[in-house]
Amino acid sequence: MQTEAVWLGRRLLLWWVAAFGFMPVLAVCPFCGRPGCPSGAGLYATVIAPILASRSRRARRNQKPRGAKVADKRAGADPNETAKRYLESCRKGFWQEVFQLELKYLVEHLAGCRDILSVGCGPAIIESELAKRGFSVTGLDVSREALDYAPNQVRTVADRAEDMPFPKSSFDAVICVVSLQFVKDYRQVLEKSASVLRPGGRIIVMLLNPESVFFKERLRNSDSYVRRIRHADTRDIERALAVSFQVQAEYLMGVEQGRLFESRDPHRAALYILRGTKLPVGAEEEKS
Ligand SMILES: C[S@@+](CC[C@H](N)C(=O)[O-])C[C@H]1O[C@@H](n2cnc3c(N)ncnc32)[C@H](O)[C@@H]1O
Repeated sequence: MQTEAVWLGRRLLLWWVAAFGFMPVLAVCPFCGRPGCPSGAGLYATVIAPILASRSRRARRNQKPRGAKVADKRAGADPNETAKRYLESCRKGFWQEVFQLELKYLVEHLAGCRDILSVGCGPAIIESELAKRGFSVTGLDVSREALDYAPNQVRTVADRAEDMPFPKSSFDAVICVVSLQFVKDYRQVLEKSASVLRPGGRIIVMLLNPESVFFKERLRNSDSYVRRIRHADTRDIERALAVSFQVQAEYLMGVEQGRLFESRDPHRAALYILRGTKLPVGAEEEKS
């Protein structure tokens, strides 16, 4: 009888080890204080273990899934840290070259303009250079943290581009440097841009070219900002722009393996640029 009890106790112990790991080793008989004692193991397996198991199941249910920590870290990333890291990466040689090229393009095509609105300006790196060249620049961005890094020469406004908090006819030109594809509603942004522009005002929209080697390379990098893009269809954006502007389009800036070169090739140029001139009032309705 005693042998059977020992046998049963050991079976229960083995069953518990198989089901829940090594916790049963800790099973101590509440009567004699010996680990593995048949009566203690029996009590453990039939009463204590199920209670512990149900508690641990509940705890597991409430736990975040594996990998959630990383995902959460990204979703709730400290915006200040993100802005700081963006600025640091912009100081690197490659990005400096990119900014120089974009700046050269902008200066050339903004000739004759004075009041410039940059939509989605981030830390206003290019805008600061435009200000140094005599333009009066306002930077609009939804991220206060990014705007905190903007230099004093650039007037900054923290708001959604869709809300465009400026009176009608306030600017000679609106620029969107790799920002329009990141906003929620680009149609609204374009419509409001037309309204804050003076008659004959210009818009320059620099878009990432999703067909480019650069874009495809960046997309493979899980940390790349390119992955946050909301609108990849550049033709759709071009059509929306054409509602209020007379549009010209061109490709610019080949980038491959961290090297910049001149290219107007739709598969090699990293940027697709749309330049628009505001249509006279009434011409919009005629077009549509
Ligand atoms: C890829 S970054 C480009 C920043 C800057 N133009 C540059 O070239 O360094 C896109 C920017 O758009 C801003 N942005 C995204 N959605 C926005 C919105 N709805 N209104 C205003 N800014 C927005 C982001 O905060 C970010 O600074």
